[in-house]
Amino acid sequence: MLHISQHPLVQHKLSILRDSQTRHPQFRQLVREIAMLLCYEATADLDLNNATVTTPMGEAKAKVLRQEIGLIPILRAGLGMVDGILELLPSAQVWHIGIYRDEKTLRPVQYYNKLPIAPTVQICFILDPMLATGGSAVATAEILKTWGASQIKFVGLIGAPEGVQALESAHPDVDIHLAALDERLNEIGFIIPGLGDAGDRQFGTA
Ligand code: PRP
Repeated sequence: MLHISQHPLVQHKLSILRDSQTRHPQFRQLVREIAMLLCYEATADLDLNNATVTTPMGEAKAKVLRQEIGLIPILRAGLGMVDGILELLPSAQVWHIGIYRDEKTLRPVQYYNKLPIAPTVQICFILDPMLATGGSAVATAEILKTWGASQIKFVGLIGAPEGVQALESAHPDVDIHLAALDERLNEIGFIIPGLGDAGDRQFGTA
């Protein structure tokens, strides 16, 4: 299922993020803030267990998260989404996946994966600001399914219709959370109008 955030704060911050005049310190801060807001929405259906907690006044019925949660940032641009989300989910595990796109073929090339053999989380949030061709997200979802993750969600900032379609058709069970769905990809695989290169703009390497 595709969710496009309608939250006014997300839309306002996204406008500043897209602006070519926004420099990398502010860009990084905005990625962090939007990721937090999207995470709030993407976690709205997490399962809970009943619990009891002792307050200073006595026993209270309580609810606690049932599943172990993993954050899976796709290097490098997904890194900027991790810290904000960890503020909301401080106990989440972070497992990095390194994938870059081959500039000519636009196909994903994996270069880092240190997942242990047995899965240590049940629900995985794939973090990557851009869903362009969808190749990186599709490959990461495959890696996580092979690993044994029982539920996967993709959280990104901007998607192209081509990427959404690719991810939905390869992994119809993966929920997609975005701040915006843009018009199209250009001939070199950049989202139009998008925001440029999310990795370079976060890390000042443009
Ligand atoms: C960009 C972006 C995504 C990927 C999206 O990464 O950060 O990971 O491309 O494209 P796709 O949907 O077509 O796979 P890039 O290859 O520029 O690497 P970087 O994040 O290390 O800069």
